[in-house]
Amino acid sequence: MRHYLKKTTISTISVLFFIGCTHKKNDNSMIDIKSETIKEKVDSLLSKMTLEEKVGQMNQYNGFWDVTGPVPEEGTAKNKFEHLKKGWVGSMLNVRGTKNVKEVQRIAVEETRLGIPLIIGFDVIHGYKTLSPIPLAEAASWDLEAIEKSARIAAIEASASGINWTFAPMVDISRDARWGRVMEGAGEDPYLGSKIAKARVKGFQGDDLSKNNTIAACAKHFAAYGFSEAGKEYNTVDIGTSTLHNVVLPPFKAAVDGNVRTIMNSFNELNGVPVTASKYLQRDILKEKWNFNGFVISDWASINEIISWGHAEDKREAAKLAATAGSDMDMEGYVYVKELAKLVNDGIIKEEILNDAVSRILTVKFELGLFDDPYRYCDEENEKQNIGNTSHHDAVLDVAKKSIVLLKNDKNLLPLKKEGQTIALIGPLADEKNSPLGSWRLGSDDNTAISILEGMQQYKGNTLIFEKGLDLIEGSTAFTQQVHINNTDTSKIKKAVATAKNADVVVMVLGEHGFQSGEGRSRTELDLPGLQQELLEQVYKVNPNIVLVLNNGRPLTIEWADDNIPSIVEAWQLGSQSGNAIASVLYGDYNPSGKLPMTFPRNVGQVPIYYNYKNTGRPNKEEHVFWSHYIDSENTPLYPFGHGLSYTTFEYSNLKIHGNKFKKDDTIKITVDLKNTGNYNGKEVVQLYIRDLVGSITRPVRELKGFELVELKKGESTTITFELTKKELGFFDNQGNYMIESGKFNVFVGGSSITKLEDQFELIE
Ligand code: BGC
Repeated sequence: MRHYLKKTTISTISVLFFIGCTHKKNDNSMIDIKSETIKEKVDSLLSKMTLEEKVGQMNQYNGFWDVTGPVPEEGTAKNKFEHLKKGWVGSMLNVRGTKNVKEVQRIAVEETRLGIPLIIGFDVIHGYKTLSPIPLAEAASWDLEAIEKSARIAAIEASASGINWTFAPMVDISRDARWGRVMEGAGEDPYLGSKIAKARVKGFQGDDLSKNNTIAACAKHFAAYGFSEAGKEYNTVDIGTSTLHNVVLPPFKAAVDGNVRTIMNSFNELNGVPVTASKYLQRDILKEKWNFNGFVISDWASINEIISWGHAEDKREAAKLAATAGSDMDMEGYVYVKELAKLVNDGIIKEEILNDAVSRILTVKFELGLFDDPYRYCDEENEKQNIGNTSHHDAVLDVAKKSIVLLKNDKNLLPLKKEGQTIALIGPLADEKNSPLGSWRLGSDDNTAISILEGMQQYKGNTLIFEKGLDLIEGSTAFTQQVHINNTDTSKIKKAVATAKNADVVVMVLGEHGFQSGEGRSRTELDLPGLQQELLEQVYKVNPNIVLVLNNGRPLTIEWADDNIPSIVEAWQLGSQSGNAIASVLYGDYNPSGKLPMTFPRNVGQVPIYYNYKNTGRPNKEEHVFWSHYIDSENTPLYPFGHGLSYTTFEYSNLKIHGNKFKKDDTIKITVDLKNTGNYNGKEVVQLYIRDLVGSITRPVRELKGFELVELKKGESTTITFELTKKELGFFDNQGNYMIESGKFNVFVGGSSITKLEDQFELIE
């Protein structure tokens, strides 16, 4: 207790001082005074620290419960406790629950020489106990307010459990649905991804990090992990500078602009350099060019992996490379704690590098208020009241509904009639209470999602008959294991087909198990796994009135379904309230408004496929074969980026660019009229794309540069205004410099990335 009491007194005085000043100063100077105070405190503490204690701050250990990566040999509980007591640990991850956090925090605060509190990290990816939809699903809502709120709730629950730092948001852009982690990001587009990155950071961190219900965010994985070759997990990444600067980096920059306090580097190499050892990314771009003043954490043992990549001979060299490159904290790698002090003592790396890293780490700890009260996140009463609270379920239900995308509704089977119908509910995921929780749900309890069966049972006017039809998986679904897909047992299909035959409508729930996407879960096929296609086709033969509800963590290749099934609903993995959200969409109590944040390919051969592709030199269809295409597939996707239907219809008209020649500093005003022409009230995501026709670096055929979520009653119209400025009209050259070039730009506005409504303006000098 000794250090804790002393520090409380000091910080109470500084808090009073700080409050006193706020009356006189404007907002900016308030921030200055606060950070100045923190800087002084950090400098003073740093001057008291031994070399080993500095290294300790740069060391993060996994807790003793959840494991989210391979356990290193040294990672025994005994070593961890010893190191904790010596002050050689600055942070722990995967320790949760106020009791457990208090216990490790007590050792750090009361048993180490300087009593520096631990920062406690955890993968709060889409909720803590109450789970929101997986991040890719939430991105489909295009609803920044709802996304921010979902992160806010995650922060409230996680912080009540003793956690003060989340390893989220993942802001990796990816164009390859084979990669399992596309479920964890915001999809393929840097503009949408940047907006969502900022909203999530705000949700986690709030306006004041020192409150006990806000937590530090971590934008990850810096950088280019989403471009792993062939979608294979942890694979090499080799991309050009144009893609790096124009596609990969913008969401990270948005997170930094949103004051994200930490950044995680990644497992991949980039153009021959493992990024954990990349000075270019971590120092030159992140810390110097962008002036990022938080700290960088390695990914799980990614410093060690510099050796396997063949970029360092041993741990000593790996530690040297990573620290020099700007990786401030070593996650569960045992490399810094073993090597850094020796490297400094041997004159191989300068102590200033450690000073810089430790200052950054201590700064965030001060900002979180951990020095004021290291147990501020450990209030048991708060824990009881806040975790799993009903209002959190209401909020995740809201965002779950908003995340659903209506892909197709040809015969208007949807919304379902509420009375007098016999509905057959079929499919291995229809009564699933586990799969909708996704694969990142360490703080939650298994089998706690509302299933679709449970959701639909609440609508009592119809006769609902459930038949599973298939088991999707065999055996265990443990976090670190692959699920085993049932490829042989067809015994339940017959009964499902018989049930379907007599129904008015068949609702089929198919897709991927929650443990088939996420980290370490890349696929080479993007079809419906196991025997689901067979089940679908057999049911279709007896009753084609099928509503296909997809539960999955990535775009799937469902060309047969698109050709044959009248209604298709993309319902992802929607978290705790999954079944309630889906039922309310199926029955029309919520009119779907989601739009795809990732292109759906027709087949795996088209991958990577994305809407903002380059035109090529031979874009046009020709009689001969010498144009850019496949001989066995169309170029177009199955469903384009931005696609999503509603039960109502929207009509766009009167696209107007207010002027036709503009200077680079001008604000370009664009308006469009939108009318709800159908029979339901509804929401539409109005999207604006541009094409810069000629560029010194070739420009994509379309780039999203604005969107607005608009709600209209049936029959109602409105005019939507967009503004384009140089922030939207430029791009990065191959040195990473932002530039705006004069010339002609096409503007497209509509309800998806293939909208045809188009106009043009010219940018002059
Ligand atoms: C993942 C990170 C995660 C970390 C800690 C790693 O394997 O790549 O995203 O935050 O584990 O669980």
